[in-house]
Amino acid sequence: MSKRDLNFEAYRKSIQSLENFKKPTAVVIFGASGDLAKKEIYPNLFWLYKDSLLPENTIIIGYGRTNLDIKKYLKETIIQKVNLDNDDLKIYDEFIEKNHYITGNYNEEPKFKELDSKINELMVDPNQNIQDCNRVFYLAVPPKVYPNISEMVGKNCRAKEPFLTHLVAEKPFGKDLETSNELSKSISRYFKEEEIFRIDHYLGKEMVQSLIALRFANQIFRRVWNRDSIESVFINFKENFGTKGRAGYFDEYGIIRDVIQNHLLQVLTLIAMEQPLSESADDIRDEKVKVLKSIKAIKLDDVVLGQYAKNENGTPEQQKGYIDDEGVDKDSLTATYAIIILHINNERWDGVPFIISAGKALDETISEVRIQFNQVPANIFKNYCRRNELVIRIQPNEAVYLTMLTKRPGMDFVVEETDLDLTYAEKYKGLYVPKAYERLFMNIIYGSQISFVRSDELTEAWRIFTPVLHEIEEKKIKPIYYQFGSNSIPEAENLIMTKGKYSFERFCRL
Ligand code: NDP
Ligand code: BG6
Repeated sequence: MSKRDLNFEAYRKSIQSLENFKKPTAVVIFGASGDLAKKEIYPNLFWLYKDSLLPENTIIIGYGRTNLDIKKYLKETIIQKVNLDNDDLKIYDEFIEKNHYITGNYNEEPKFKELDSKINELMVDPNQNIQDCNRVFYLAVPPKVYPNISEMVGKNCRAKEPFLTHLVAEKPFGKDLETSNELSKSISRYFKEEEIFRIDHYLGKEMVQSLIALRFANQIFRRVWNRDSIESVFINFKENFGTKGRAGYFDEYGIIRDVIQNHLLQVLTLIAMEQPLSESADDIRDEKVKVLKSIKAIKLDDVVLGQYAKNENGTPEQQKGYIDDEGVDKDSLTATYAIIILHINNERWDGVPFIISAGKALDETISEVRIQFNQVPANIFKNYCRRNELVIRIQPNEAVYLTMLTKRPGMDFVVEETDLDLTYAEKYKGLYVPKAYERLFMNIIYGSQISFVRSDELTEAWRIFTPVLHEIEEKKIKPIYYQFGSNSIPEAENLIMTKGKYSFERFCRL
């Protein structure tokens, strides 16, 4: 039995008992020839198929302008992303047979009618009294194409009720509040909010999912989770690679739109929200929205930007700076790093800085939340940093650990820092931790919006960031340049502390 199979049995049973498991389902992937389809969508659909987690009768139809032989593409290209062993090959061949493809433009109505007929032809079976199927339409294309596709699908390809129609939209959802609202408006003409699944793949990550349990199922944390005990919250995102061939996209968006306005802000809301009325998607999202509403729009003084430059002594990859990447202007001011301080104006968090730091081309790849508790008052011990810290490491190597101070074992009396460590690879040996997209696919197909961004969350997130993004662009704010592979950017950290009039010692672990 593979590591994957070990903890799937109970889950599989629960899925197979769902009504939607029995319903035929068509998954349509717009932009099937693209990077996301290759890296995430097809491979994860295969793994779910292999684990018998997709509905019994599922078909997958790719759609795009590229003339693609989908079976050949799966056999020769996608297979390299799937990582199969010999036993899986037969199942992979079966999976290939479930796949179809239509070549067409995204505004070509006859092609969408053809898509609708194709779904009906493959799924409707009057002999078995099957009149239609649940339909998932995945927008794996640049957002500017969303309005066309929404209209075409809305007019031509919706499932007949009671079958479900789900539309999946990827980020970036707009470039600012205005463009995001326009996008929402164009989609909501044809789809109801409960049919729209806006992906923020961070919400599908194991540790992000577990934040609610950590916060609300542990009395020891509930009591101290506020301004009386917490000095600051630090959300840290680093990648040890640059824009990796995605510079064309990145140069238009920059690090704030790429990961801060969405992934890291989502993490912040889960850290900061009040206890929801229940575990339901809307109760949780109601609380997240309240947190966002309590954050004022960010000012330029709350932000410091950086851009990576070549590191002449580094690896061949590091010897190229951001502006050396194809598709980037030589005088581009786009930030590949930003550090931001946010405040939540409510009773729980008043005065507690939430520091978000995110950068590409740094020394390591890590994503973590550090809850920094107050220093011990009237400390009697010498030579140690007088604070506890709860660290939630989202990736790599999922973990929760609490730094604490103990007496070092021995005859002498020395107080030192140690950890209460819950590293998943140690604690849950052999258990498979699902990947974000696997989990999100299950939610999309079986209709749970718990890990998806609601339209009011999106509006609030853009409200917080839009003015500063515009100001950065209008004033052409120059980033601080840092070497590819740097461990941190002390100049930026110092500057943010000075601008915010904080004393650096307060954040001894930044
Ligand atoms: P791609 O640039 O690879 O585009 C996907 C497909 O869309 C292409 O294969 C092409 O298919 C079609 N397409 C591309 N440009 C245009 C255009 N200007 N007009 C019409 N169709 C076009 O995108 P990705 O696969 O990387 O991303 C898809 C979506 O997912 C985007 O919204 C992206 O922002 C988002 N995303 C991607 C991530 C990634 O890691 N790749 C991560 C997070 C989000 P064809 O020519 O066959 O029609
Ligand atoms: C994507 C960003 O949304 O998230 C990328 O566009 C970033 O720039 C990626 O690298 C990070 O996701 P993960 O899952 O690799 O941490």
